[in-house]
Amino acid sequence: MISSVKGTQDLIDKKAALYEKIIKTCEEVAKNYSFSFINLPHMELSALFKRSVGESSDIVGKEMYEFKDKSDREIALRPEGTASAVRAYLNAKFDKNKAAKRWFYHGSMFRYERPQKGRFREFHQFGVESFGEKSVYEDINLIFILDEIFKKLGIKSTLKINSLGCEACMPKFREKLIEFLNAQSGFCEDCLRRKELNPIRVLDCKQETCKNLLIKHPKMRDCLCETCKTDFELLQKVLKDNEVKFEVDDRLVRGLDYYSKTAFEFENDSIGAKAAIAGGGRYDRLLQDLGSKGGYGVGFAIGIERIMDILEQNEAKTDDENLIYFCILNEELLQDSISLVKKLRQNKKVFMNYEAKKLSKHLELADSMNACVFLCMGDDEFKEGKIFYKNLKSKIDKKILINDLENFLWTTTA
Ligand code: HAM
Repeated sequence: MISSVKGTQDLIDKKAALYEKIIKTCEEVAKNYSFSFINLPHMELSALFKRSVGESSDIVGKEMYEFKDKSDREIALRPEGTASAVRAYLNAKFDKNKAAKRWFYHGSMFRYERPQKGRFREFHQFGVESFGEKSVYEDINLIFILDEIFKKLGIKSTLKINSLGCEACMPKFREKLIEFLNAQSGFCEDCLRRKELNPIRVLDCKQETCKNLLIKHPKMRDCLCETCKTDFELLQKVLKDNEVKFEVDDRLVRGLDYYSKTAFEFENDSIGAKAAIAGGGRYDRLLQDLGSKGGYGVGFAIGIERIMDILEQNEAKTDDENLIYFCILNEELLQDSISLVKKLRQNKKVFMNYEAKKLSKHLELADSMNACVFLCMGDDEFKEGKIFYKNLKSKIDKKILINDLENFLWTTTA
């Protein structure tokens, strides 16, 4: 039998349904903000990503799926969607009249990363790209879109924002940063490479030794020009006014080289270490880097697999919230209890533990299974024709007559 390629997965049944649900929610929200669908190729000339995502990024430096086709062209499987969207915008000459275009897309991206939970070699993104809009209100709207999508999907997240400055203020910061970096030693090999290619990417390093060396790093916030400062302050004010919570993170520089001004990331920690579930920002300079005379671009992408993982976990939790944990303190009570459990199972999800254990052990197990109701039969209860009941959420407990149990469970919320 031929196995699937490492780092890929089949989306079947529940996973396929979740994928559809996420895309549908994202599309609905994006359409309300006047974005429309585009479909872009999965392969591009490698040069496109080298010139946009940048040689200093891990994506281009280490993770790109590249090959030569039969005509010796250097081709890459797209590691992300922004570069293709900019290429499409420029190829269609929309930049000539500075046309405003708001596009959304979804589909496979490819990065040769070490596969682990929430990290695949072929994964899916839902992305939006907005062209021709200079106003910081567009950046704000993109954050609103993400905030709304996550609310609709019931996903908790932390929003981190930063400003990376523009052509006027970024070079000054770069100089300050290089001076600071040169005065330190002990950076990892990746940081030494980044220092040469794009020094601000050093701020993004996740290695503890580098993080410690960076404690007193100069901050972009202190170097912003008047326009960038005003825009960044306005962005924060409007987010606050609209009750979108955020943290300013001076080390948020994003893993791709094309950003300037607004940069943001949404994180969630329910699938292991804090994971970015979406990221984006402004990339006006990229249009020039790819051959236009100028223009404006801002966008984001959501990692669908990470959202799927969180939703699966949330669903598992809600499922178990209906769970009744049934146990006995003495194995001799098992035979009599099984008929009662059979009856309860006609309407309720019941887990029955056949082993007699101490009450405290059973309670621990019930908690670990995230059950909401705990039922326990001990010798005393059996003699009294009762059962011990505990609501594991409200912590209320009492003994209930077995004859009243079904009626009690169907009607009570306590
Ligand atoms: P990115 O931060 O590289 O940005 O990716 C966006 C999201 O894709 C991440 O936040 C993460 O959820 C997900 N992701 C990234 N790599 C993997 C992986 N190996 N496995 C699973 N999920 C992954 C971009 O791609 C930019 N193009 C975003 C953007 C659009 N900026 C402006 N417009």
